[in-house]
Amino acid sequence: MKPVSTSIPRHVAIVMDGNGRWANKRFMPRFVGHKQGVDALMRTVKACADRGIEYVTVFAFSSENWKRPEEEVSGLMGLVLVAVSKYLAKLASEGVRIRIVGDREAVSSQVRAAWDETERRTEHNERITLSVAFNYGGRWDVVQACRRAIEAGVPAHELTEARLSEFMALSHAPDPDLFIRTGGEVRISNFLLWQVAYSELHFTDCLWPDFGDAELDAAIATFAARDRRFGGVKTALAPLMADTRSAA
Ligand code: FPP
Repeated sequence: MKPVSTSIPRHVAIVMDGNGRWANKRFMPRFVGHKQGVDALMRTVKACADRGIEYVTVFAFSSENWKRPEEEVSGLMGLVLVAVSKYLAKLASEGVRIRIVGDREAVSSQVRAAWDETERRTEHNERITLSVAFNYGGRWDVVQACRRAIEAGVPAHELTEARLSEFMALSHAPDPDLFIRTGGEVRISNFLLWQVAYSELHFTDCLWPDFGDAELDAAIATFAARDRRFGGVKTALAPLMADTRSAA
């Protein structure tokens, strides 16, 4: 078992909210905020890797985001292609493994091909794993996991929490230790419902394009100050318990 640091989270999940407001404040189209959001994501992945964080999972497009104006949805889809062509080589050379989690059926074949290439080109990287939740919803995840468990022939009496976790979209990662949401809203918004059961939650008014090292360090500091008991009483073993509940 890896040594567990109680001050640095192993896995950080982020709801990158506030791109639209960031752009509105500057009298610019919302799309500009999303573009800046990609840059903030690149900075954050590097900052996380530099601090020894092993997994970062971000909410890039939710199952509910299809309700946005068509122009914004197609802008976000186009941004995937731009981001992959602009940043993939750099991320690949920096040891970032990228996984895409979510329902790929509904996205265009172009976006699906970009995701496939992204995963393929980074599959041997080990420094940090960036999971991009795209067309993802926490409830969708639970349902797809149940469906796949049934399809795999798992008998009802064998369907434990641990067994179902193997079918969840983030089965490659331990549960998030720290959940960050920027943009001032204080809710989970159907992100990793199953996986955040024991995550420490950190909400900040900072708009996502403004997120940087100082904001990340503030979130890590609040995490380090929390007393994680996982439903038990305080013992020196609590962090180790976290690790065995959800080892990657
Ligand atoms: C929420 O801000 C943000 C999103 C719905 C999209 C987040 C996407 C990115 C940062 C780009 C990631 C892209 C790739 C290719 C990984 P909002 O639009 O809801 O902002 P608002 O609450 O201020 O309106």
